[in-house]
Amino acid sequence: MHRHEHSHHEHDKTLGELRDALTAGFWDERYGGTDRVWSGRPNQRLVEQLDAIPDLAPGRALDVACGEGADAVWLAKQGWQVTAVDVSQVALAKVAAHAEEEGVGDRIRIGFYDALADPRPVGHHTFDLVTVSFLHVPLPDFPAVYRGIADAVAPGGRLLVVAHHPDDVTTGARHDHGPGLMFEPERVIETLGADRPDSPWEVEVADTPVREQATPEGPLRVRDTVVRLRRR
Ligand SMILES: C[S@@+](CC[C@H](N)C(=O)[O-])C[C@H]1O[C@@H](n2cnc3c(N)ncnc32)[C@H](O)[C@@H]1O
Repeated sequence: MHRHEHSHHEHDKTLGELRDALTAGFWDERYGGTDRVWSGRPNQRLVEQLDAIPDLAPGRALDVACGEGADAVWLAKQGWQVTAVDVSQVALAKVAAHAEEEGVGDRIRIGFYDALADPRPVGHHTFDLVTVSFLHVPLPDFPAVYRGIADAVAPGGRLLVVAHHPDDVTTGARHDHGPGLMFEPERVIETLGADRPDSPWEVEVADTPVREQATPEGPLRVRDTVVRLRRR
């Protein structure tokens, strides 16, 4: 009953309320607590997706909505020149501090980025890798945000999108954070027109793999959306 009431309530959220959860104020408070959201480990999907590309030479990478920077630090350690952007200056300060601690301060630049205010991050067709993990935006904002992010990918470069799959709501693995926030690979592919024959994008991966996530109640089976595109 409680779960039902909860999800009903979540579905009543207005667009304005959904956007409130994508502001600097919201995330600064989240990252400003004493709890370290940082696990220090890079996202499994980033590691496996890059490992799966034969002869991938590290170049320029952009980590969009980087959070505390585990992925950015990992990429820098692999030899990438990383630009890490996020709406939270508190998170960005942690990225910079962590990069220094890990000895890769010279390979990571940080920058403010607000996907809703200005969806294009730094640089048009600039990065050999653009990675964005778990940036869930309201459905009406999705096309502008993800097209803006994709614009940063250089010819021959890759876009890697990782997100929570909407199945997690029906399996009970995750509360709905709001209607339309979680998405399937198709949303990315259709938004970018990557399924059209004349598309500049080659779809290398469109997958929905399952992984086990540790929780205080024991391991939880969750599903990810993983999309890897290459700009021709
Ligand atoms: C679920 S966290 C994911 C962080 C990181 N990518 C990871 O995988 O651990 C979502 C991130 O999106 C950032 N974010 C939220 N709203 C944003 C916005 N409007 N523009 C840019 N980043 C935003 C948050 O600060 C947060 O770091």
